[in-house]
Amino acid sequence: ATTLGASAAERGRFFGTAVAAGRLSDSAYTTILNREFNQVTPENEMKIDATEPQQGQFSYGNADRIVSHARSRGMQVRGHTLAWHSQQPGWMQSMSGSALRQAMLNHITQVATHFRGQIAWWDVVNEAYADGSSGARRDSNLQRTGNDWIEAAFRAADAADPNAQLCYNDYNTDNWNDAKTQAVYRMVQDFKQRGVPIDCVGLQSHFTGGSNYPSNYRTTLSSFAALGVDVHITELDIRNAPADAYRNVTNDCLAVARCKGITVWGIRDSDSWRSGESPLLFNGSGGKKAAYDAVLTAL
Ligand code: XIL
Repeated sequence: ATTLGASAAERGRFFGTAVAAGRLSDSAYTTILNREFNQVTPENEMKIDATEPQQGQFSYGNADRIVSHARSRGMQVRGHTLAWHSQQPGWMQSMSGSALRQAMLNHITQVATHFRGQIAWWDVVNEAYADGSSGARRDSNLQRTGNDWIEAAFRAADAADPNAQLCYNDYNTDNWNDAKTQAVYRMVQDFKQRGVPIDCVGLQSHFTGGSNYPSNYRTTLSSFAALGVDVHITELDIRNAPADAYRNVTNDCLAVARCKGITVWGIRDSDSWRSGESPLLFNGSGGKKAAYDAVLTAL
């Protein structure tokens, strides 16, 4: 096939991108989006500060616009994200204890119910583990509500949208030897053993080039998959977009049956949160970069 999405579909995968609602009026942007991708993740529009800006007052306009654009064109939607320490609205940042736990659970219930049946996968919890060698949870107001906050979040999401696939998503979980990767692995193993509803693990994969795209990435993908969860590459971007690194990531995913798809974190370099690093597959003019050709050829 001649596009990323169609080629991935032939391999039983999706190929997606982060989408910003504010760019849907840019026809150069939507031309590429509609041509190349069969999956979208709202870049910011489903985060807690966007969907519940005041406690108990929900705001879905921008997220609904993305979902509608995607689903009317047959693209699957990843919901991102129901529980996270970052991009919390002010009211939530200042909460703690059982009131915060209840607010988190209500947020998950309300948002997952609003989108019920429209979301293929939810990033239920994002970035809950600390960087470095500790293998510990990240300190956050949510973590301080009790170590069971992650499983409570998954159970609430499952109750609200039982047909969605429920994912844990994180970064720096790419190198199989890293303590953070091992800690997430043990959490998923524990959830599967105890029947906590988890279906998938997302590896964000914000790479800085050769230095942190590890040679054992494929081992990480296959090790998570062996726990009985699907694996997704959820936010791929690579500093300077080396064609060989993009090719290797694509081949690593294709080598693992349960690696079900790749999402790049934006369309053109000018759309990227790391725009200074030109980390994506299309240049600012919408032209295909060498990394694009490498991915399409690998798919
Ligand atoms: C980023 C967005 O791309 C930016 O527009 C925003 O200002 C900050 O968040 N990990 C995640 C994503 O899970 O939600 C982040 O997205 C990038 C890092």
